[in-house]
Amino acid sequence: MGITEPIAGPIAGLDAIETASRDEIEALQLDRLKWTLAHAYANVPHYHRKFDDHGVHPDDLTDLSDLARFPFTTKEDLRQCYPFDMFAVPQKEILRIHASSGTTGQPTVVGYTKQDIDTWADLCARSMYAAGCRPGDKVHVAYGYGLFTGGLGAHYGAERLGCMVIPMSGGQTERQVALIRDFRPDVIMVTPSYMLALADEMDVQGLARRDCSLRIGLFGAEPWTNEMRQKIEQRTGLDAVDIYGLSEVMGPGVACECVETKDGLHIWEDHFLPEVVDTHNGAPIADGELGELCFTSLTKQALPIIRYRTRDLTRLLPGTARTMRRMEKVTGRSDDMLIIRGVNLFPSQVEELILKDERLAPHYQLEVRREGSLDSLTIKVETAITDAGPAARKAMAHDLEHHIKSLIGVSTKVDIRDEGEVERSIGKAKRVVDLRQL
Ligand code: DLL
Repeated sequence: MGITEPIAGPIAGLDAIETASRDEIEALQLDRLKWTLAHAYANVPHYHRKFDDHGVHPDDLTDLSDLARFPFTTKEDLRQCYPFDMFAVPQKEILRIHASSGTTGQPTVVGYTKQDIDTWADLCARSMYAAGCRPGDKVHVAYGYGLFTGGLGAHYGAERLGCMVIPMSGGQTERQVALIRDFRPDVIMVTPSYMLALADEMDVQGLARRDCSLRIGLFGAEPWTNEMRQKIEQRTGLDAVDIYGLSEVMGPGVACECVETKDGLHIWEDHFLPEVVDTHNGAPIADGELGELCFTSLTKQALPIIRYRTRDLTRLLPGTARTMRRMEKVTGRSDDMLIIRGVNLFPSQVEELILKDERLAPHYQLEVRREGSLDSLTIKVETAITDAGPAARKAMAHDLEHHIKSLIGVSTKVDIRDEGEVERSIGKAKRVVDLRQL
């Protein structure tokens, strides 16, 4: 059997591996991991050099735990190999590339063989099935198409599952809502922050919750909280399900929640081996403990990736709706963490508090400034009350400042804005504006 051939499942709609025992999953992982290490070492000079420098050889791996002896891969490694030096197959075997935007430096480029594209479509279809989509559903894809993996990843997954795809991409908010009204999709795939912008536009166009055809939303590509999930579900009446992925590892569909449990994302462990490590020293961290998520690909041909440091913070949890392990919802990245006067703070902690207050809308941004030698934080957030007067605004600001101080321990200034006054994104939201360098 080919290494990524789907295994026909005993449960309708599921691959057999989704309900396999841990022993079966780990045996498959070990086989595939040995193949991956050998493939990377033989075909990517960068890995060859790094393994040699580290004094390890693919043959040293006889057990899954031996992986901890191998060196990590970081975004910096991919940048050094820009554009194509991480590829493990000749360029004529690459069917597609994607790339990160490169706003913070050299873009990172990833490549896929025909088999990689096929596996990706299978795993996106598997994710969508877990989220409650079924063949015959209509799927509105509002993730961006292009070098970003969101649009095309979702698109191929939806087709693989046997759905009708509406390849809308991001932007043109009014038109998005008009098409949702007219085409009546069952499923939407979009970032959670842009879903909120679409929900606002649904209000403007008078598309009521009871008339909205959407049954399921697969939201990802950025951190979002359970409070955000509730808010989206209340407003639109759909089931909001979390989908995770990253271009270096594949794209969307590395892990996904099951609609019946919504208790964290099952990692498709037959294709990706997860580890959680200490952000500072890289030491392995036991399941259940919080740390930085790392991935090793198990079947990728074009771009095998070994112990990739995602910067995403989470913990590994045992399987529930599937036997594969779950990762807790990612609500922060190590590089999103702000240190304000010695206290660590993630934007998602502020989001949780904003969404608990009915007077506030879920549109917010954190601005960090330097005042003398100290950093200060201003939170810009929109009010949900259209005609809020000065006293009401003052009370909202005061209450949020108080909750942040008492629950997170940071003094902040809250700036209450009117609707539309906080920058909207059409893809990944920009939650932090750092004005310290200015
Ligand atoms: O964002 C792939 C994707 C597209 C995933 C559509 C889900 C849906 P990148 O642009 O490479 O790939 O960004 C990857 O986005 O390391 C996380 O920090 C963040 N991220 C992705 N999904 C989630 C999620 C795509 N469900 C980076 N929750 C990752 C929290 C997420 N953060």
